[in-house]
Amino acid sequence: MFKSIYFRLVATYLTLFLAVVIIISFFSTSLFYTEFTNQREDNLINAAEKTNSLMERYYNNEITKTELTAWIDAMGYISNIKIYILNPDATISSQVSTNDELSVNEQLRADIVSAMGGERVLRMTSVSIEPDAEEVVYIATPLKYDDAVSGVIMIFSPFTEMNNLLRSAIITIITVVVIVVLIGIIGILRVSINISNPIKQISEYARNIGKGVDVPDVEINTGDEIALLGNSFNEMKNEIQKTEQMRKEIVANVSHELRTPLTSIIGFIKGILDGVIPKEDESKYLNIAYDEAKRLKDLTTDIVDVAKLESGNVKLNKEEFVLNDLIHNVYVELGDMVKEKNLEFILDEKVKDIKVFADRARIKQVLINILNNSLKFTDKGSISILVEKEGSKAKVVMSDTGIGIQKDKTQYVFNKFFTANDYGDATKGAGLGLNIVKNIIDMHGGTIDIQSEEGKGTTVTITF
Ligand SMILES: Nc1ncnc2c1ncn2[C@@H]1O[C@H](COP(=O)(O)OP(=O)(O)O)[C@@H](O)[C@H]1O
Ligand SMILES: [Mg+2]
Repeated sequence: MFKSIYFRLVATYLTLFLAVVIIISFFSTSLFYTEFTNQREDNLINAAEKTNSLMERYYNNEITKTELTAWIDAMGYISNIKIYILNPDATISSQVSTNDELSVNEQLRADIVSAMGGERVLRMTSVSIEPDAEEVVYIATPLKYDDAVSGVIMIFSPFTEMNNLLRSAIITIITVVVIVVLIGIIGILRVSINISNPIKQISEYARNIGKGVDVPDVEINTGDEIALLGNSFNEMKNEIQKTEQMRKEIVANVSHELRTPLTSIIGFIKGILDGVIPKEDESKYLNIAYDEAKRLKDLTTDIVDVAKLESGNVKLNKEEFVLNDLIHNVYVELGDMVKEKNLEFILDEKVKDIKVFADRARIKQVLINILNNSLKFTDKGSISILVEKEGSKAKVVMSDTGIGIQKDKTQYVFNKFFTANDYGDATKGAGLGLNIVKNIIDMHGGTIDIQSEEGKGTTVTITF
């Protein structure tokens, strides 16, 4: 569990996040506190200086006692402070801006003595002052007149006021921090789930595929690299499933195609060996067995060819040659068989000496496969070959007047192991020929088209 990506993501993010939040709130709080205290100090110092200058003006008879009192009262009221003017012996000489008695404790006395000595004393941490034990901060500063210390100015400011302000500031900061942390945690959890869930799903699917179980596509809609991984995984999975499906089909088809002829070959040979077949019929059955064995050989060649072409490992042996010459060869090779069936064999060369750059042996295989089909499925009429050019390409049209192919089946004739009809033993094939043809034409960057009408005939056109 501690090794899971989810856990590690959450732990890393959370640690980082909390560290940042704690550092920021600590610094902002202490900054706020320092700033607040500094300002408080400045206020007290300003008020003390202002009081000192008012006292000077009073001593110089520039303002009356009433004016002095009014000014200091106003200042104390506005700033919520208490201002005392003390005699050198620490008795109150004028008590302004407040009616409270000043009860002098030990520390205060010591500070007053220091102030008498010309020193300014600031107490910014809360001090408790009798009689009502109010928490205060204060300044004790010498009252200067004519370069001499003639008393002490004492100014108190309530601590609670400052405390309250600080507290509400800290509460605000904490609230903001908590909200930010909560939002952050939710975000972190979501991001982590978005990363770890798809990975878990993909690995689970991968395990199932390994066991040969079919799985649906993984669905990841995050639009990021993980989604990309999901897409690639789906592509890979579909490819594997397709291949697996194909493998199953081929194994099933191939074993069927091989078993049928083998069974009859074994049957005939055993019949002869056991003497079940009469001596005079032996050569007849041996001939059948021979034909079946030959067909089996062609079939194995085709099966291997299909597998090779499909794997993409076949390299074309391209060379320049005259297509018409190749066609003449094929025409001669098949001529006897066409004549045997009493069919007309027509060769129509619209263009002579068509030079092509192609794999001669493979193109021959294409022509023979197509014409063999015509031969197989045509009993009367003709088989014709037309050669011409189409643009820079060569075009061969092969037509017959045979049985044709049912309309709805024409589209499947290029599939492996597809045979449109069961026409009986004479025409029995494994359905690999046109698949091989199409693969070879595709490898040459050419096109192949088949048109057929049931009962009328079939036309196959190739360009390459
Ligand atoms: N000239 C044709 N006339 C009628 N049917 C054809 C012709 N060519 C192909 N077909 C149909 O297409 C199928 C697939 O052809 P092919 O791949 O060569 O396999 P096969 O010859 O082994 O049957 C044939 O079984 C047949 O039904
Ligand atoms: Mg064929």
